[in-house]
Amino acid sequence: MSAAQLRELFLRDRLREYFLIRLLADGTPVGRLYWRARCFTSDASKIDWELNILLAEPGVRGRGLGSAAQALAVQHLLGRPSTRSVFAYTAVENHAERRALQKAGLHELGPLPHPRYPVSVPDGDWVVYSTRSRTAAD
Ligand SMILES: CC(C)(COP(=O)(O)OP(=O)(O)OC[C@H]1O[C@@H](n2cnc3c(N)ncnc32)[C@H](O)[C@@H]1OP(=O)(O)O)[C@@H](O)C(=O)NCCC(=O)NCCS
Repeated sequence: MSAAQLRELFLRDRLREYFLIRLLADGTPVGRLYWRARCFTSDASKIDWELNILLAEPGVRGRGLGSAAQALAVQHLLGRPSTRSVFAYTAVENHAERRALQKAGLHELGPLPHPRYPVSVPDGDWVVYSTRSRTAAD
């Protein structure tokens, strides 16, 4: 992305809130997490929060950071009165993220596109996880 596009994405997109993930021991930045407000119903006051995480430093993966960071985000967002759900999607073959999302308290809903989460995704096989269960009424 160009500098202008990155500026727009990180500084001006008011629908997303970005967080830098640091290791507590020495404060080294190792990744980022964001949540993004989505509205999939006719009620504009009800927000579905999309989570997205990247541990950019491969050496810190597999140590519980991804699960813990997403669990904290879920806990925080579920505390907001406007929250309808928290959801995330990932590639079917991304077993680490699929397990991390489960550990963060999300349920697997099935493949994307999904009627409850009409998001556009790049080519490939994607699976969506949500704080809402498969059976929960909309
Ligand atoms: C995906 C990601 C966020 C997971 O975070 P993490 O800190 O590495 O994962 P955790 O240490 O919390 O582990 C999550 C679980 O996945 C399991 N896991 C890790 N790698 C795995 C793999 N290759 N296959 C199967 N399970 C795996 C872990 O064992 C753990 O489960 P357990 O506690 O039951 O043993 C992180 O690896 C990452 O940023 N990867 C690159 C970017 C990415 O894929 N982002 C998500 C894309 S949408």
